[in-house]
Amino acid sequence: MGESGIPSLVSLCIEAVKNELVGGDDLLPIIKELPRNLVDILASRLPPLALEKLQTAVPFDDRDDHDFADEGLRNGRKRGRSWNFSTAWKILVKSRWPNLGNQIEPIDWQQMYWETHLQNCLDEVAEIASLPSFDGRLGEIGISDSILKLIGFEGCMDTSTCDYSKLYHHCQQFGYYARCLRLQNVLCSAEISHLLRKSLLQSLELRWIRSKEHIDGLCKLLNQNSESLTSLEFIHCKLSSDSINAICSSLATKNVQTHGIKNFSINTSNFLETNPVSLPLGLVSFLSSGRSLYSLKLSDNHLGRNFAKLVFGTLLNASSSLSILDLSDNNISGWLSELYWRSPSGPPTPLGIGKSFQSLRVLNLRGNNLNKDDADGLRYALVHIPNLEVLDMSDNPIEDAGIRSLIPYFVEASEKCFPFADLMLENCELSCNEVTYLIDTLSTLQRPLKSLSVADNDLGSQVAAALGKLLSTSIQILNVEGIGLGSSGFQELQDGITKELKLVKVNISKNRGGIETANFLSKLISMAPELVTVDAAYNLMPLKSLTTICSALKAAKGNIERLDLRGNIWDYQPGYASMHADIQCNGRPVLILSSSPTPDAPYDDDP
Ligand SMILES: *[C@@H]1O[C@H](CO)[C@@H](O)[C@H](O)[C@H]1NC(C)=O
Ligand SMILES: *[C@@H]1O[C@H](CO)[C@@H](O)[C@H](O)[C@H]1NC(C)=O
Ligand SMILES: *[C@@H]1O[C@H](CO)[C@@H](O)[C@H](O)[C@H]1NC(C)=O
Ligand SMILES: *[C@@H]1O[C@H](CO)[C@@H](O)[C@H](O)[C@H]1NC(C)=O
Ligand SMILES: *[C@@H]1O[C@H](CO)[C@@H](O)[C@H](O)[C@H]1NC(C)=O
Ligand SMILES: *[C@@H]1O[C@H](CO)[C@@H](O)[C@H](O)[C@H]1NC(C)=O
Repeated sequence: MGESGIPSLVSLCIEAVKNELVGGDDLLPIIKELPRNLVDILASRLPPLALEKLQTAVPFDDRDDHDFADEGLRNGRKRGRSWNFSTAWKILVKSRWPNLGNQIEPIDWQQMYWETHLQNCLDEVAEIASLPSFDGRLGEIGISDSILKLIGFEGCMDTSTCDYSKLYHHCQQFGYYARCLRLQNVLCSAEISHLLRKSLLQSLELRWIRSKEHIDGLCKLLNQNSESLTSLEFIHCKLSSDSINAICSSLATKNVQTHGIKNFSINTSNFLETNPVSLPLGLVSFLSSGRSLYSLKLSDNHLGRNFAKLVFGTLLNASSSLSILDLSDNNISGWLSELYWRSPSGPPTPLGIGKSFQSLRVLNLRGNNLNKDDADGLRYALVHIPNLEVLDMSDNPIEDAGIRSLIPYFVEASEKCFPFADLMLENCELSCNEVTYLIDTLSTLQRPLKSLSVADNDLGSQVAAALGKLLSTSIQILNVEGIGLGSSGFQELQDGITKELKLVKVNISKNRGGIETANFLSKLISMAPELVTVDAAYNLMPLKSLTTICSALKAAKGNIERLDLRGNIWDYQPGYASMHADIQCNGRPVLILSSSPTPDAPYDDDP
């Protein structure tokens, strides 16, 4: 618009060119001759389809800014790039999916736009294909008008007869951009590998794969992308040995009989007909070949102890280079004690002497019904894992005896300068005495832990003295939710803080500390300059705590980004939030006082 509110000649022309470009290709040769600044203005006004057309047709290579990072990455299709095109795509992404790209800024907004668009189309098509009455080709299913309109498609009147509305067209046009996709069973028919033939998939998430037909379709797709795939995740699937064998062999890359998968996860699924003495052969070779495997998650699959033992044994035998092993939420009690041989006299001997799991850094055994004998077995299994950094044993009834078995390991790890740093023992049926002993030991280590959680054990206020000592080590993360500290516990903790702390994150929620919680927080905030996140919800704090905490926050001017005070005994009123809205970090309010609106929007939240 001109100053007077009358459209300028340029903007009228731009509008006319835009309409022409949306409708057809006649103007492309002329646009190529336009000065760069006019093309930029045009780009900022175009709907996605027309912007795509413009960008593909206009070769800016010669006059383009050469510092654009992504240039040259696109094999085959050379295309013009400019700062404004990237900005135009970013605006289009943000207006269609406001939460997308919030956490990680993508390298290429255009790629993100079309990949997400294609995902939306596939999701829509999956819904139709799931209907019992459906019996046709996926590619022929029409995309809804609302989606077509979003990309700026205003072509033929009757979209049902128009090519542009069909899934295959979108796959053909935009499949090139798809790297990470989520496919559910109905999409894994024989047709899918053809539809996605232009894609070079890197990451696939598969849901509800249960029949042989789905496996066959999927395996073709996997094979087609075996060179590019690095991440594969199955959720809610039922997998027979034959299916697993087929999946694993389809991943082998053409020339070398190995695979390039880095992250492999089977989650909330069932393995059918498991054999107690051997794993499916395909899985054995998958786990044993492929030096790239980085993370293996087999969580919540009703795995029994034999399966877990075989997986661990296979990885160990193959000297796997795995970093992360997650066997959480299965039922594998009795497995760990089989990892060593306990002679009636003399020390226990680990099986597979000389073998070790040099690369493993994270071991998650949460929720596996493990008991004290398993913990004892784990102590010897850990001998094989010298570089372990993170151990999660939460939600297992290992009890005091279990933790007593593990304490010598923590001491040894520190003495030998192992990198062990992060221990989770939530809800392990531990008592105050044993945890006090554990924490006293941890507090005297040469290499103190970085992070400890003993949340959800019924410990009581007596543990506070030991916790105070632990806080004075260089510990950065402490979770003591729901351990029954009470007001006397918080008082003691407060007295225990005598020097500057290194704490970054602390969780003291559900401890019924009342006003003493606020007094403790006030001292903590002043003594822990690196503190970023505090969860102090559900502590029976009275309203005046808010004043105490706020003045501490204002005085400290620290780094605190988030302080959760939900569920305390003041009746929440919206007024409180506005009263304290001035306490901010990076432009966001620090205090969380009510459950809504949600403070952190999820990253990938399609509308
Ligand atoms: C982007 O386009 C605007 C006009 O819309 C122009 O003023 C600006 O210089 C362009 N920026 C770059 C980096 O090309
Ligand atoms: C693999 O998993 C790790 C850790 O869970 C994650 O950081 C990484 O981004 C994943 N890689 C892929 C390709 O998904
Ligand atoms: C398993 O999938 C669920 C979503 O269905 C997810 O919340 C959970 O984090 C996944 N677990 C693992 C170990 O990846
Ligand atoms: C590992 O190797 C040992 C001997 O080399 C063998 O007895 C054992 O069965 C192997 N374990 C697995 C799970 O393959
Ligand atoms: C867990 O495994 C044991 C055998 O190892 C079995 O007796 C028990 O029933 C299983 N529990 C569940 C909940 O599956
Ligand atoms: C506090 O700890 C509990 C139990 O481990 C957990 O569910 C909750 O998410 C934690 N809070 C934060 C902010 O991490």
